[in-house]
Amino acid sequence: EAIEKGGFEHFMLKEIFEQPKSIKDCFRGRLIANNGQLVLGGIREYANALTNAERIVIVACGTSWHAGLVAEYIFEEFCRIPVEVEYASEFRYRNPIIREGDIVIAISQSGETADTLAAMELAKSKGAIVLGVCNVVGSSISRVSHEGVYTHAGPEIGVASTKAFTAQLTVLTMIALRVAHRKGTMAEQRYRSFLAELESIPAKVEKALKTDDQVKKIAALFKDSRNCLYLGRGYNFPVALEGALKLKEISYIHAEGYPAAEMKHGPIALIDEEMPVVVIATRDSSYDKIVSNIQEVKARKGKVIAIVSEGDSLIPGMVDHTIEVPGTHDALMPMVATIPLQLLSYHIAVMRNCNVDQPRNLAKSVTVE
Ligand code: G6P
Repeated sequence: EAIEKGGFEHFMLKEIFEQPKSIKDCFRGRLIANNGQLVLGGIREYANALTNAERIVIVACGTSWHAGLVAEYIFEEFCRIPVEVEYASEFRYRNPIIREGDIVIAISQSGETADTLAAMELAKSKGAIVLGVCNVVGSSISRVSHEGVYTHAGPEIGVASTKAFTAQLTVLTMIALRVAHRKGTMAEQRYRSFLAELESIPAKVEKALKTDDQVKKIAALFKDSRNCLYLGRGYNFPVALEGALKLKEISYIHAEGYPAAEMKHGPIALIDEEMPVVVIATRDSSYDKIVSNIQEVKARKGKVIAIVSEGDSLIPGMVDHTIEVPGTHDALMPMVATIPLQLLSYHIAVMRNCNVDQPRNLAKSVTVE
């Protein structure tokens, strides 16, 4: 086992550090930005149906559901196709409206999650075209899908999903770019610039991993917290949800992720000097808004840990701790901004002597409903 961990103390840490490579593996043979190449061999027969879809429904659970939320924003922005993201367990039991030819995308690391599988079967029985985004080759979900794209992140052992999440985002972004290009909802030049930017993500993730020592120091300050709030807006809202999920899964600290503007409708009541608030505040189209949200938290003496873009000179003066990550397009930021949050939950869990790779009550793949 020590060999399998490749010198890391836990599988989770190894998998976090593998991400520059796992994202690259996900591109391999698919994306070559400098000649505009983006080939997804897994979606051929249904490529036109996807391009012309009137709506897309995404079904998933857990972290995969968070990847689905990011994909909702990406597909709607790039492809102008309405997207609904559903918890598979809710979808399957509420007589959902699915029409013949609707596109359903199922996202799953393991490919064995019972609720996701059942949601796919249901969608198929109603005539939907079901596409899978899966990590495990030959898994049940990959077999039930009409077509699909593997994430090729390699085996993920830690129960808390890390590299599978960034690989899912990579695949979903590639699918959306492909559709947008075919559909003409994204101009050639913008498409090319996204391909190039996507190709640069592994290097940016590598840089984000360099925050590890700093994140560890912050973890030591907050390891005894009882609660933690995560806030983000736009593309960073699902990142906030995922950050909170990571913390509760492995450190057993109660954490909630919220869209920052919703804070005033509830969570703001929880904020006092004891409350750590992690704000994903990278420089994007909602930057000014998130700065105001930070001010609202500080006015109530909350402790703010902000994830900011490199070179941000405003936020560090307002908050307790800042962690800098390289900038990228808004739509690609989740892949970079999620890295310090994975590290934060990891270090806090280790400091609390938790079983990081096998947290209590959780399973890597949930094959029962
Ligand atoms: C379990 C795992 C999570 C995972 C979720 C969905 O709860 O502990 O890490 O996100 O299942 O799993 P899937 O394999 O379908 O992505």
